[in-house]
Amino acid sequence: MFDINNLVRENIKKLTPYSSARDEFKGEAKVYLDANENSLGSPLMKWYNRYPDPLQWKVKEKLSEIKTVPPQNMFLGNGSDECIDLLYRAFCNPGKDNVIICPPTYGMYEVSANINDVEVRKAPLLDDFQLNLAHIEQLADANTKIIWICSPNNPTGNSLNREDIETVLNNFNGLVVVDEAYINFSRQRSFLKELTDYPNLVVMQTLSKAWGLAGLRLGMMFASEAIINIINKVKPPYNIGQHTQEIVLQALENTDQVNDMIMMIVDMRYALEDVFNQMPIVEKVYPSDANFLLVKMQNADDVYNYLLNEGIVVRNRSKVALCEGGLRITVGTEQENTALVDALGSYIGQLKFEKATDNG
Ligand SMILES: Cc1ncc(COP(=O)(O)O)c(C=O)c1O
Repeated sequence: MFDINNLVRENIKKLTPYSSARDEFKGEAKVYLDANENSLGSPLMKWYNRYPDPLQWKVKEKLSEIKTVPPQNMFLGNGSDECIDLLYRAFCNPGKDNVIICPPTYGMYEVSANINDVEVRKAPLLDDFQLNLAHIEQLADANTKIIWICSPNNPTGNSLNREDIETVLNNFNGLVVVDEAYINFSRQRSFLKELTDYPNLVVMQTLSKAWGLAGLRLGMMFASEAIINIINKVKPPYNIGQHTQEIVLQALENTDQVNDMIMMIVDMRYALEDVFNQMPIVEKVYPSDANFLLVKMQNADDVYNYLLNEGIVVRNRSKVALCEGGLRITVGTEQENTALVDALGSYIGQLKFEKATDNG
């Protein structure tokens, strides 16, 4: 049986969280002299001299309309990366507990574990980039606190089979975190609707991808109120700045624009996939549900360096197990994609020329 009290660290259970000025007085007042702010103002046109809402209720209420998840089931972090770190700090005892990751996958699950001195157990994805359920089952023990599942997965781009994720949710008594950073580009349904079915489910999303707000840093975590309350105890008091809260609220009004961008990116992803598939240096374009493509190339390092020389940076994943020879290529603007395809065309042209001269 899943019991959140068995998962949370003892010191966090006993923790008296920091009580900020805005926690202690929540009403409206004429004069605020309780937070050691600078009452004279800010050296800007707009003032930011007051601390922001520690729990970002206005943003959560707006997000609640979009995601149809109640605000009290949300946590907002300084990017998903803060959410990842806080999950470790709240649930994983350093030097004792472990988590399971399914590589190749997003790197921060492992880095954050290492920072927090938490053991990482690896159940690599199968050749078709799906979960190896038997291996996950074999690795899990009484000290396994979190299983990290990234779907659509970075860097492979595919969505993981829904039934496999459900199998993990049904059979594991720790937290199952489904990282849906790329869900807006996917044909798969989000797991948000399943939150009420699974007390151990945590869904992570971010405004850094489809919403085009990577520079603002806003990650979202959705879970039971019990889990969210624990994370709220551990978080830094004012983790999302006033400016970010205001700008995000404005952005959240523009869902139509975001949906248009998503459609354009997905269309361009299909177009790029077709072009790559016709290139003689391309061995495989992996099916993608994200805003990038993993492309297996002949001489990937060489191609990577050629593109760099042309001023085009892609991500070289060619040394990553199961991604051998792979370059991870983000879908760009129409012009950027054309520049990339042209550069690859020149690279191929140069190869043909070399071959022709080789043959005398
Ligand atoms: C799968 C996945 N999760 C989380 C993140 C981090 O997102 P954020 O910008 O919200 O910290 C990334 C960034 O690339 C990612 O690929």
